[in-house]
Amino acid sequence: MSPGSERVVLVTGGGTGIGRAVAERFARDGYRVAVTGRRNAPLEEVVRSIGPDRGLAIPGDVTSGPDRDRLIRQVIERFGALDVLVNNAGVVASIPVVDTSDAEWRRQFETNVVAAMALARAAMVHLRERRGCILNVSTGASGKPVPGYGVYGATKAALEYASRVLALEAAPDVRVNVVSPGGVETPIFDTFLTPDQKAETIRYFDDATPLGRIGRPADIAAAAAWLCSPEAAWVTGTVLVVDGGLNLG
Ligand SMILES: NC(=O)c1ccc[n+]([C@@H]2O[C@H](COP(=O)([O-])OP(=O)(O)OC[C@H]3O[C@@H](n4cnc5c(N)ncnc54)[C@H](OP(=O)(O)O)[C@@H]3O)[C@@H](O)[C@H]2O)c1
Repeated sequence: MSPGSERVVLVTGGGTGIGRAVAERFARDGYRVAVTGRRNAPLEEVVRSIGPDRGLAIPGDVTSGPDRDRLIRQVIERFGALDVLVNNAGVVASIPVVDTSDAEWRRQFETNVVAAMALARAAMVHLRERRGCILNVSTGASGKPVPGYGVYGATKAALEYASRVLALEAAPDVRVNVVSPGGVETPIFDTFLTPDQKAETIRYFDDATPLGRIGRPADIAAAAAWLCSPEAAWVTGTVLVVDGGLNLG
């Protein structure tokens, strides 16, 4: 397909949770949508829901340099352009700082920071051509010390800082913003909590969130859609907190 007026988005971690909601929201807003993640099945499900003519599943690991290059290449081959990169893929664990192995530090930094910035680098030439934008997904834990989340919070604090620097460096061609979710009910809880801990965590967010409930992936997708839309044409380097008020007090 040759580059046209239709906009193209690439969502990492686009098969599940927040990434899936972002992918489906952008598809509804008229984008062509590429989704990536290590497991193919959830990606194919998203493409089925979007419609195979508008969606593209590209299985891959964002921590792999060759996979990242192939990812950008396949998006351009299929859709002819790239307008928006959403760095949403992320991993978390609940481990005290002093008990965290070097390998775990590296795993979280490689996925949550290095991969996002390396994808920004790989995509930049295409984003500049379209005067596009990058949206990185952080967390409220980046600014608030939470026991057990020292590594995770550090990765997202690094992601926010690098995003703000990148916003300066990429201007005026490419906008770079961050969305910072509070607690959102997604499959991420299954990756590091027992079923009982997950239920307790959801209850905690329902109770502790001033707006009265845990977040939904669609809450974050709505903010993502706005930050990447022409309505936000004069917004760059911002961290938009979308947390129902969780981190106010
Ligand atoms: N849920 C919350 O309460 C919350 C709060 C604040 C911030 N966030 C952030 O929101 C983002 C999305 O998380 P989520 O809650 O929607 O959880 P999720 O459903 O587990 O999404 C994470 C996604 O990242 C993908 N991923 C992980 N490692 C990857 C890798 N090496 N290569 C490619 N894809 C990879 C996963 O797919 P595969 O496993 O198939 O690779 C998965 O689709 C994350 O950055 C997370 O830190 C979540």
